[in-house]
Amino acid sequence: MLVKLSNGKEIPMEMHKVRIVQKCFLVPADHRLKAIEEGGYNTFSLRTRDIFMDSLTDSGTNAMSDNQLAAMMVADDAYAGSESFYKLADSIKDVLGFEYVLPVHQGRAAEHLLAKVFVKPGDVIPMNYHFTTTKAHFEMAGGTVLEIYRDLALQTESSEPFKGNMDLQKFRDVIKKYGANKISFVRMEATANLLGGQPFSLENLREVKKIASENGIFLVYDGSLISEQAYFIKQREKGYENKSIQEIMTEMMKYVDIFYLSGRKSTMVRGGFIATNNKKYFEMIKPWLPVYEGFLTYGGMSTKEIEAMAVGIREMTDFNVAGSSAEFVKFFCERLIEYKVPVVTPPGGLACHLDAMKFLPNMPQSQYPAGALAAAVYLASGVRTMERGTISMDRDKDGNEVYSDIELTRIAVPRRVYTMSQILYTADRINWLHQHRDLIGGLKFVEEPPVLRFFFGKLEALNNWGAKLVEAFKKDFGPNC
Ligand code: F0G
Repeated sequence: MLVKLSNGKEIPMEMHKVRIVQKCFLVPADHRLKAIEEGGYNTFSLRTRDIFMDSLTDSGTNAMSDNQLAAMMVADDAYAGSESFYKLADSIKDVLGFEYVLPVHQGRAAEHLLAKVFVKPGDVIPMNYHFTTTKAHFEMAGGTVLEIYRDLALQTESSEPFKGNMDLQKFRDVIKKYGANKISFVRMEATANLLGGQPFSLENLREVKKIASENGIFLVYDGSLISEQAYFIKQREKGYENKSIQEIMTEMMKYVDIFYLSGRKSTMVRGGFIATNNKKYFEMIKPWLPVYEGFLTYGGMSTKEIEAMAVGIREMTDFNVAGSSAEFVKFFCERLIEYKVPVVTPPGGLACHLDAMKFLPNMPQSQYPAGALAAAVYLASGVRTMERGTISMDRDKDGNEVYSDIELTRIAVPRRVYTMSQILYTADRINWLHQHRDLIGGLKFVEEPPVLRFFFGKLEALNNWGAKLVEAFKKDFGPNC
């Protein structure tokens, strides 16, 4: 909940109390240098013991509620017909309104099944923006992902509330150009992750659905960040100020043919599912579920996770839960803006995003500015962030680099996990880094996997800039910081 202090400033107030804690480690800068060098300047290869605040992702790193933990204790471990599954199905029916449910082990497993069943070689899949795993699965099935956002979506500094909107004219043009029978489906991603967690408006969703229906195309909704999406509609869209999160979700779902999500974000538990009211689509996907995931009543999740998800789905409709990450992201961005650090605005869901091309204006994309900045943030603070730029794109079929539209360094804010002082500390260290940005150099690959290279790729710092940055840091903060 955002509360106004007597000096007029707004702060995010935690509407929960913390009863279980986990130790953090703040290792000295020399230790951090060794860790990032050994990890090939890739923050994915760091270990928890070397990380202070883990802002790699908000995925599977959120704090569960007492009720979620309690539910895990009563899980029914039947292979088939588990009562836990029926509790999940009831929650999905009550909150999202879908009859048919296919649980999967995580979001990309849902994408795999959708690609397997609906994407044919030569198809195109229009969407408001891609996500890494989505693009990988749809393209491995022979499809081509078409991103049809409005040009302003790529302006990192903006006051546009709905940068995640689809460009309706471009959508019509795509249908005209390829023909509806070449379009597997249209995909709308709630709070578009790689644009910096930017929502679409309900009006836009309604229009996309209208155009899709007129052309016999069905709509797939990636709801991994659905609670943040509903929260932003309530905050930003005219006419929805007084609607509840549940009412907004219910209205969004009216336009959805197939829904899927990664449960690791909004529902705060590892897992995922596909849901629909269309029996035909359900029957088309169902035979593949036991092949790739597991039987219909667990689908690759443990029954404990299913129980926790059944509770998480109901809890994500609570206004204070839905906004818990977004409000901290806003607070974080505002501190960085005060320091004149370039961040994505308006602040989105899931993370505060640094604009690496503005932070490091002289660095070419071929030297991976967002990856270099992620490594530099770790060196200066012990905070682990994630590259969301060109390293997160794979090369094309001919081996050429595909430069990302925008180069972002994502500082994720997992729900209900970190405190304001940890955010203030991180903002302070990023401010120091910004003042010393001339010390940050580029990266080059030394080991490059062929697909989703950002996970396991190894890079090195050009001209050994990491060591020079750490020397400057120690001069200002001392050897033990
Ligand atoms: N869709 C969206 C919008 C996502 O953000 C993610 C994952 C997925 C699908 C895939 O789900 O990880 O459960 O298989 N996002 C994570 C992230 C990885 O860090 O943003 P998954």
